[in-house]
Amino acid sequence: MHSQKSRRNFIKKSAVLGAGITLLPQLSYGINTSKNQKLNIGLIGVGLRGTNHLKNLLQRDDISITAICDIDHTRTQLAQELIKKKNLAKPKIFGKDDYDYKNLLELKEVDAVIISTPWLWHARMAKDAMKAGKYTGVEVSVANTMEECWDLINAHEETGTHLMILENVNYRRDILAILNMVKQDVFGELVHFRCGYQHDLRFVKLNDGKSAYGKGVEFGEKGISESKWRTQHSVSRNADVYPTHGVGPIATMCDINRGNRFSSLTSNATKSIGLHNYIVKHGSKDHPNAKVKFKQGDVITSTIETTNGETIIVTHDCNLPRPYSLGFRVQGSNGLWEVDGNRMYIEGKSDPHKWDKADEWLQKYDHPLWKKYGEYATGAGHGGMDYFVLHAFVESAKQNIASPLDVYDAAAWSAITPLSELSIENNGEPQNFPDFTRGTWIKRKPYNWMKDTF
Ligand SMILES: NC(=O)c1ccc[n+]([C@@H]2O[C@H](COP(=O)([O-])OP(=O)(O)OC[C@H]3O[C@@H](n4cnc5c(N)ncnc54)[C@H](O)[C@@H]3O)[C@@H](O)[C@H]2O)c1
Repeated sequence: MHSQKSRRNFIKKSAVLGAGITLLPQLSYGINTSKNQKLNIGLIGVGLRGTNHLKNLLQRDDISITAICDIDHTRTQLAQELIKKKNLAKPKIFGKDDYDYKNLLELKEVDAVIISTPWLWHARMAKDAMKAGKYTGVEVSVANTMEECWDLINAHEETGTHLMILENVNYRRDILAILNMVKQDVFGELVHFRCGYQHDLRFVKLNDGKSAYGKGVEFGEKGISESKWRTQHSVSRNADVYPTHGVGPIATMCDINRGNRFSSLTSNATKSIGLHNYIVKHGSKDHPNAKVKFKQGDVITSTIETTNGETIIVTHDCNLPRPYSLGFRVQGSNGLWEVDGNRMYIEGKSDPHKWDKADEWLQKYDHPLWKKYGEYATGAGHGGMDYFVLHAFVESAKQNIASPLDVYDAAAWSAITPLSELSIENNGEPQNFPDFTRGTWIKRKPYNWMKDTF
């Protein structure tokens, strides 16, 4: 009853906010928005990522942070100080226990929530938020199991409340330029993609419990920030547990859930030596954690097939020494882009059999959003993409419309985790993706990515 009521209030309010946008499009960027058209946001989880979101949100004047929840009181304290420094109203604070977020969801002065908690909390918090009628933003990855993927779809369809997966890499400048090239058919008919999360996280998964990126080889209760919870996934699961930074951008290029669909996947994992070696090198061979058996293979490779006949190779590579790269490759009937090597080849435009430097192409096809707001966005974190993903969230929430990266995307991309786990367990056996759109992918229209609004 309560959730229906707060949902009605939200829709009523959103209609007003939406009207404001339609009538005053120049105000929709948050920088100059009229003070009385604010989206009230509650933050659930203000660790490193949630605090980054808070700082970016505080740059906007079309939002108000009305509530914050975190079980670590040093984090809520820090968040309150940031808000106080801006001379803004004090938010309501929650976090007396793991389930206090439910009390935040009861507040009528919260229209939208951003969930930046450890992975195992995402789907249940998102489901509860949708049921409470709050426009829901969730950090990546959104779900850990197939059941959780369906929970999100069901909660959205039962309540009509929207969910956005806050995949910032979809807004990276090169990614949006490549998407522009895809939409203008420069690559021709799409055939093959590569992507992944290739990031040496050994010093994040293991630390000294005092500083998130400090020395040390502790995790779990003795760790701090992500080593407190993320590392256990490497102990317990042989799966690609973080697929969305890579697959998110590719999914929008090939219109997944909108005329195309992930159909099946095979996955293979290597042996696991990286985290153990790190513990021995930076702790000692006698350190208790040197006895821990890590289940997750150091390099996990999944090949996804789409109904349109493309393949996507997704790599998870976080436990070995290596420079960062998401390893993108986008290939079609006319040519290809590879992020590693910063190179492009387009038949008929590039010298035959010779790579062009990608830079000129990326500049030529710079996305309208980046052209318009790049300068403003650059300070926002992760080279600016954090600004755009939050912007899309706020603008979609203000209008109460499905966001560019919706609940069906969240489910399809997150499903890679349980499917890769099953496939690896069964010697690379193919696994079928469920159709989270219940057949409607055939007629769902691709999102119009080429606007300069959001
Ligand atoms: N998109 C990106 O580039 C990016 C970057 C970093 C992290 N992330 C994602 O953001 C999320 C958070 O990561 P992080 O680095 O901030 O981790 P973190 O450990 O620093 O922060 C998580 C916070 O959640 C709080 N928390 C845990 N359980 C809670 C509960 N039941 N109720 C309320 N608060 C609770 C913790 O106290 C902590 O402050 C993860 O999903 C991570 O994958 C995304």
